Amino acid sequence: MCGIVGYVGKKAALPILMNGLRRLEYRGYDSAGVAIVGESLRIVRSVGKIQSLDDRLFGEKMIGFMGIAHTRWATHGVPSEANAHPHTDCRGNIALVHNGIIENYRELKEQLESAGHAFRSETDTEALVHLIEHLLKYPGTTLADAVRSAVRRVRGTYGIAVVRAEEPGRVVVARLGSPIVIGVGGGELFVASDANAIIGHTRRVIFLDDGEMAVLGLDGYQISSLDNLPIAKEPEDLEWTAEAAQKNGYPHFMMKEMSEQPEVLRNTMRGRLNAKNGNAVLGGLRDVADQAREIDRLIVVGCGSAYYAAQVGEYMLEEYAGIPVEVELASEFRYRKPIITSRTAVIAVSQSGETADTLAAIREAKMKGALTLGIVNAVGSTIARETDAGVYSHAGPEIGVASTKAYLSQVTVFALLTLFFGRQRQMSLSTGKRIAKELVRLPELVTSLLERTNEYRAVAQRYAWAEDFLYMGRKYCAPAAFEGALKLKELSYVHAEGYAAGEMKHGPIALIDEGFPSMVLCPVDSVYEKTKSNVEEIRARRGKVIAITTEGNNEMSRLADDVLYLPKTLEMLVPVLMAVPLQLFAYHAAVLRGFDPDMPRNLAKSVTVE
Ligand code: AGP
Repeated sequence: MCGIVGYVGKKAALPILMNGLRRLEYRGYDSAGVAIVGESLRIVRSVGKIQSLDDRLFGEKMIGFMGIAHTRWATHGVPSEANAHPHTDCRGNIALVHNGIIENYRELKEQLESAGHAFRSETDTEALVHLIEHLLKYPGTTLADAVRSAVRRVRGTYGIAVVRAEEPGRVVVARLGSPIVIGVGGGELFVASDANAIIGHTRRVIFLDDGEMAVLGLDGYQISSLDNLPIAKEPEDLEWTAEAAQKNGYPHFMMKEMSEQPEVLRNTMRGRLNAKNGNAVLGGLRDVADQAREIDRLIVVGCGSAYYAAQVGEYMLEEYAGIPVEVELASEFRYRKPIITSRTAVIAVSQSGETADTLAAIREAKMKGALTLGIVNAVGSTIARETDAGVYSHAGPEIGVASTKAYLSQVTVFALLTLFFGRQRQMSLSTGKRIAKELVRLPELVTSLLERTNEYRAVAQRYAWAEDFLYMGRKYCAPAAFEGALKLKELSYVHAEGYAAGEMKHGPIALIDEGFPSMVLCPVDSVYEKTKSNVEEIRARRGKVIAITTEGNNEMSRLADDVLYLPKTLEMLVPVLMAVPLQLFAYHAAVLRGFDPDMPRNLAKSVTVE
């Protein structure tokens, strides 16, 4: 996803901007650029990695105490220098960087071209900077005035930062649907699309809300609405530290974040488990606890791994809290005509809290009167702020594009929610205590699995030839299989398909031969015998099988080609453990193929466009 960094202060702006871009690299991009306002407005852009931009900057006189920078993930127009941001007006006096999509850019572009503006790119963004230039023609108009008027004519989404040669010391920012965070330092101000870019300078941040804009300068910041009404906002302190968002000696962020999972589980549960009462104490739901008691149906929305975590939660909540649950792809829910009553709660699951489809789904649910809850990792993110209440997953910054610790924390939050809703309803004290007791064991069980990484690497090596994979599981292990397949797909680009094991005979078995291996999740649980039959059916067709089962179950070694073992735990918590071998199998498969697991091709960490 595109990244924005901006600075105004007393230090040289260029190194601050370039370091900020490097901290946004994990979000995925195809080109980058930087604008500095010094004696004049200077802009340098390049296709490819930040290093290419660095090379282009060598020897350039980019001296100034104010500037903006951008990493672009192409939506309109191919990755090229001409399409890279910042974009400028006709005379090169205004520079603008933009995240989001301007849906009416063609209409704006036609009007501006007929007014004599010359366009140089294929992007939607360029229409905005020419519109600002056009509006500045009116005497006495400031950059802030022109930005305010311009964004009011935009349909779509934007997070922008704009500078102007004639107004040195002023950075104007605005947001609608694409995050903008302001960093407040000592006599200096930062702006970014993601707090990771500026966390090394300050942890005092202000998140702009939709329809807000701000003018940053050496005299401080002024936040206002698009009607130019002042908005008072005090900085809040980010919990994260710059170190937490670094690799700390691991080869990849993904490996670091997988290794953090035991501690993440402790953090997710910290202060929330009341083992004595077999209950979960969720401060974020305190204000809606009575309303939650009356809920008679849950709809859960999410994308990707968040969606699969929600599917695990569905089994938990129905089995142990007795609440009907529907899990919906956010990208579909937002276009359906969902039946929502005053006793429906809609839960949004999102690591970034900025996923466009999930945000749109929540807004749709709110419009229909549902109680909206969030299971979000990024504190202060849009979904966290727009839902009525919620539970932060406390996984810490997740930099690797593939969701690992965030997914584990999301599943764990669903277990806590199951206790919360269940103990409000029919769940007994003894059941609640049993679940709570087993939750407390999870960190050490995950630690024991992480220590087997070389075993998972060896298996990944044995299947390095495979270009296709079928991942299967039943009940709690069906979504676990879907999530495992997503990991292999998005990291190694192998065509891995997740399937409910009961569906194998309804089609997928036609795929099976010696060149099409299967990963079968078959812990010793309530459906083990049925899934064991799947293994036998695959082997009868010469298909190779990697089976993941429970320690002590020796019969699988006679049936499968390779067997991985999990410690015993409650059936509802198996997906937490199951994720570890599946994450590491996918990670090693990617590395063995020579790919960068932190930045898989075509993917972005947070999909803030439809
Ligand atoms: C999962 O590994 C992917 N990175 C992706 O599917 C991700 O889970 C999805 O885009 C949802 O992101 P969110 O949790 O930030 O909303």
